[in-house]
Amino acid sequence: MSSQPRALRPRRSCLAVPGSSPKMLEKAKGMAVDQVFLDLEDSVAPLAKPGARDNVVSALNEGGYGDKLRVVRVNDWTTEWTYRDVVTVVEGAGANLDAIMLPKVQTAQQVVSLDLLLTQIEKTMGFEVGRIGIEAQIENALGLVNVDAIAAASPRVEAIIFGPADFMASINMKSLVVGEQPPGYDVGDAYHYILMRILMAARAFDKQAIDGPYLQIKDIDGFRRVAGRSAALGFDGKWVLHPSQVDATNEIFSPRQDDYDHAELILDAYDYYTSAAGGARGAVMLGDEMIDEASRKMALVVSAKGRAAAMVRTKSFTPPVG
Ligand code: GLV
Ligand code: MG
Repeated sequence: MSSQPRALRPRRSCLAVPGSSPKMLEKAKGMAVDQVFLDLEDSVAPLAKPGARDNVVSALNEGGYGDKLRVVRVNDWTTEWTYRDVVTVVEGAGANLDAIMLPKVQTAQQVVSLDLLLTQIEKTMGFEVGRIGIEAQIENALGLVNVDAIAAASPRVEAIIFGPADFMASINMKSLVVGEQPPGYDVGDAYHYILMRILMAARAFDKQAIDGPYLQIKDIDGFRRVAGRSAALGFDGKWVLHPSQVDATNEIFSPRQDDYDHAELILDAYDYYTSAAGGARGAVMLGDEMIDEASRKMALVVSAKGRAAAMVRTKSFTPPVG
């Protein structure tokens, strides 16, 4: 398997779809999200799990998800369901599947085990070995403590996802409202450490960092506030549970038009000024702002997100005359 970094597609909005609902599996096809994940885990009751596997295989093979990333969330390795989830879904629809989401990951070995199983299925079925990615959900204290090793455990890992609901339960946080601050904690953001820890692991190993669900689906202001925080830190996307959250998510995890224009301007200007024609300079003024190599790196991040979101620039750089 290649050790080259994988080309990562945008994951601004990641829609959760219960695998037990053929109606919702169908409806998800028309939603304007970057990713759908068809769930076999916590949104599916134990008795409905075998039927959900078959629904998911049929939905993937019927197609219609356009260029969305197609992901299936299997059950975690501490259950009796994981291996059969993976075998049924990947043997049945591996050619129409982009990644497996593994929930409640606690150790790097759990990722390696999934990688090995995927490799065997790919070989048996004649699929390209290594094409199917892994998304690792961090949902408890042990997973967070091991997140660096989890991110580095396999080249298949594409994204590290924060699972706030399970995480809050796992650390005994005194709150039932997922993503909101626990009552009584009034000196900062109770999630800051967790989000930053996940983000550092993701960035250290070239993975995407994804924020999990916000369950109060009628509270769009609350959703925007919580999504805005992880986006501001540098997260790449967030789960959406309802159509009402989709537009806000795509907007919040894309650069603002002004920032996108500014980033493209910095890149063009810096290109020009560092060239022989522009004087081969390393630190220059762009309007009232001094830009240098570090400015270029920051601009590259914003520009990459804007380009991935198919944004169109509205300003161009004109080299000075004379
Ligand atoms: C998602 O799986 C969560 O537990 O928040
Ligand atoms: Mg969970």
